[in-house]
Amino acid sequence: MKLYFAPMEGLTDALYRRVHHATFGGADKYFMPFISPAHSLHFTAREMFDLSPRENAGVPVVPQILAKDAAYFLGTVNMLRDAGYTEVNLNIGCPSGTVTAKGKGAGMLKKPDELRFFLDEIFARSPLPISVKTRIGFDFPEEWSALAEIFLQYPLLELIIHPRTCREFYSGQPHNELLTGFIARAPFPVIQNGNVFTPADAHAIDTAYPALTGLMMGRGWAVNPALGQEILGGKKLTKDGLVLFHDRLYRAYTQHWPKSAAVGRMHGIMGYLGFCFADAGKQLRSLRKSTTPQEYSDAAARLFDECDLVDTPVFLPPD
Ligand SMILES: Cc1cc2nc3c(=O)[nH]c(=O)nc-3n(C[C@H](O)[C@H](O)[C@H](O)COP(=O)(O)O)c2cc1C
Repeated sequence: MKLYFAPMEGLTDALYRRVHHATFGGADKYFMPFISPAHSLHFTAREMFDLSPRENAGVPVVPQILAKDAAYFLGTVNMLRDAGYTEVNLNIGCPSGTVTAKGKGAGMLKKPDELRFFLDEIFARSPLPISVKTRIGFDFPEEWSALAEIFLQYPLLELIIHPRTCREFYSGQPHNELLTGFIARAPFPVIQNGNVFTPADAHAIDTAYPALTGLMMGRGWAVNPALGQEILGGKKLTKDGLVLFHDRLYRAYTQHWPKSAAVGRMHGIMGYLGFCFADAGKQLRSLRKSTTPQEYSDAAARLFDECDLVDTPVFLPPD
């Protein structure tokens, strides 16, 4: 079973991916948070850093593009090919209102004819193989059967399916049952994504859908950075491993970013890693309140010293 680290804007940037790969590994591919090209194909300094082959050396990464205009998409693929990338991923799943209002991301699922036209263009002209990350519909799961027929027409490198509608955002359980008939017919590899938070979740999906090529995991892997290696039968997360991961991340961010920005980024990361600790309410609260690097380092040291790890770290979605 292939294991893919999901793209998570604001979290899984080049530094995070590099540190994760060096400390735990277990990911066959890391999908980068999306870049969204405009006609100038101008990307921000942060996007260029994230895409730079030097920052990604030795890490199996796949750039992701959010676009509804075939010319912008293809221009970006050409640039990525020139930079040495060998595949790209198309985002047709982003549920954010600002993205779908522009008809991008999951907004593309609303207009199947335009989606088909876009896919015709990009699959005819792309210099690189394209995988797609999609949801099962915009408003209703019943939209999936028609969308599935569209995807089956194209030579996708892989199809990653988050089996929720755009309207469902991340709430409720994914409609995994909709995958069954589709996997049997798909001429390309199919990857499930959504709510795989523990090794037991991964093995349950693998057993229920043995024809799946793999799983893509985001929040569960952000909580337990050893999730991939655990699914593959390797070592469980240890306190030492978590401390090493944390310290390497913090060092990487303080080396590359202004100190206050590094602390801000660590708050985001600890929002996930915090689920690894038992009875850590007090320590996590003071960590969240820290603003200076010194306050942050002290609070993190207290958390690691005073709190044990839970047996099975699991992401708990907010109510
Ligand atoms: C903070 C955050 C940022 C995300 N950024 C992206 C993104 O840039 N591109 C994308 O395709 N999906 C993005 N996603 C969706 C995840 O890749 C994934 O599909 C989602 O978290 C469901 O998988 P999970 O249940 O394993 O977390 C993001 C999700 C979160 C929570």
